[in-house]
Amino acid sequence: MANSWWKESVVYQIYPKSFQDSNNDGIGDIKGIISRLDYIKKLGTDVIWICPVYKSPMDDGGYDISDYFQIDEMFGTNEDLDELLEKAKQLDIKVLMDLVVNHTSDEHVWFQEALHNPASKYRDYYIFKEGIDGNPPNNWRSYFGGSAWEPVPNEENMFYLHAFTKKQPDLNWENEEVREEIYAMINYWLDKGLGGFRIDAILNIKKRLEYGIFESDGEDGLAFIGHWILNQPGIEVWLKEMRERTFKPHNSMTVAEADVPNERLDEYIGEDGYYSMVFDFSYTDIDVPETGEWFKDSQWTWTDMRTNIFTNQLVTQDKGWGALYLENHDQPRSINKYIPEEWINDYSKKMLATLFMLLRGTPFIYQGQELGMTNIEMASLEDFDDVATHSQYKRALEYGLAPEQALKAVNKRSRDNSRTPMQWNTQKNAGFSTSDNVWLKVNPNYPELNAEAQLTNQQSVFNYYRQLIELRKNSVYNDVLIYGQFLPVKDKNEHILLYERQLEDKIVLVILNVTATEQEYYVDEQYQQVLINNYEDILLDQSRKLRLRPFESIVLANYGGQL
Ligand code: NOJ
Repeated sequence: MANSWWKESVVYQIYPKSFQDSNNDGIGDIKGIISRLDYIKKLGTDVIWICPVYKSPMDDGGYDISDYFQIDEMFGTNEDLDELLEKAKQLDIKVLMDLVVNHTSDEHVWFQEALHNPASKYRDYYIFKEGIDGNPPNNWRSYFGGSAWEPVPNEENMFYLHAFTKKQPDLNWENEEVREEIYAMINYWLDKGLGGFRIDAILNIKKRLEYGIFESDGEDGLAFIGHWILNQPGIEVWLKEMRERTFKPHNSMTVAEADVPNERLDEYIGEDGYYSMVFDFSYTDIDVPETGEWFKDSQWTWTDMRTNIFTNQLVTQDKGWGALYLENHDQPRSINKYIPEEWINDYSKKMLATLFMLLRGTPFIYQGQELGMTNIEMASLEDFDDVATHSQYKRALEYGLAPEQALKAVNKRSRDNSRTPMQWNTQKNAGFSTSDNVWLKVNPNYPELNAEAQLTNQQSVFNYYRQLIELRKNSVYNDVLIYGQFLPVKDKNEHILLYERQLEDKIVLVILNVTATEQEYYVDEQYQQVLINNYEDILLDQSRKLRLRPFESIVLANYGGQL
């Protein structure tokens, strides 16, 4: 496969609402992002992905768009976005925006027309269906819980489809005019000089509509909608069409939120695939049961983690290129997910960074991850903003959990864990905003955990991420770390996770103790150089036996110097 700029990049994901507030209304904005570009540059990342900033009633954090061409005033103006593109360009930073085209907001003018003027062409922009005797056409469960069908006000026995919230009606991709509108909109933004897009929920655009009551897989009598709307036959025609008409002529970077089955990966990320790369969910959703009920505990082990990461690496490198991530705006903080609470410290944070940043693919760092930001503990349900958290809480109660148990469960995995304001310094609201009314609680640990403190501390998690990025981009190891093959390394000790990156005769070996107990590993003679390690020293004896302390990580190479 050919070299590309986006394979050599490291992406920084921004959740604008929580990143930096410039006008002190308690909500982050585009001018705030502009004021922090230097920080992003200092970290070494050279692409930013900004979550949706389009006009939106914010039912689902901006993933409910009411005008694709307008920046929402809470985030600023269209001119602010132009300025962001300009300033980012001066710093050699590319900008990706979010592309949400499976659905719009119900406040989008198309949907409003469809509702109030059923005879207009906009009726067919969405999926309206007659019910069965006043009941929905089927018992599909929307991804956020409850029926995926909403009765149309003032019409009898008529429903519209929404795979997410009822304020996010699904677009009808079968309608050619809808597709034309979407492609024109994508090109409008790409023509402004965007680097590309992160593409939301795209596997859902083709529906296999069936009437009836299907076997339920929950307490609610409903059935998982994904069986009928994920990656359905025929979707490939539109995905190809979209690429040919938009991304390809612009040579864009595209990363799709698409958990593609291995046997179909080739179509998506192969040489002439629909996208540059896709996000895999197998290791970030390792703690989510198949039903999507994340209030339920799911048991996972590091053996499962290894299997999922390694399988994805091997399959992906066989077909094309991958996107690497441990966090995003839909996930809780990785340190809380993967590391037992009593072992959350800078060592384990750096170990997780080492684990994912050196795999084969383009790394995505989510704002605050580079500081080791942690989950927040909300005292009551009202403290949560996220619509999915509220619906999970409801489902947890229906399932039979007591209110305190349900609150505990949603606290653990709420998407608001990663949406709390960015922790910049020790000032009011962690330097995010001077408002008395910040839209979501600031994590109270900000006096100890903030960017300002970490920038000046050479041993900080921030500086560790910076070094990892530097190794990948500007060191004698950069070609191996970017383009080298991924090779799993087997060791009889299950508690050590090992992998190699290899390019011709150059090899980099990543050694990770994923447990809280000491482990041993014999290092082969060929590895003479240490690239990076997360403790202050390395315990290697004459016989080349390495003692690995809790969550220790060491990266070695067979060239570059002496160990
Ligand atoms: C995935 C987005 O990442 C998530 O935040 C959103 O709720 C859904 N898609 C629906 O757009």
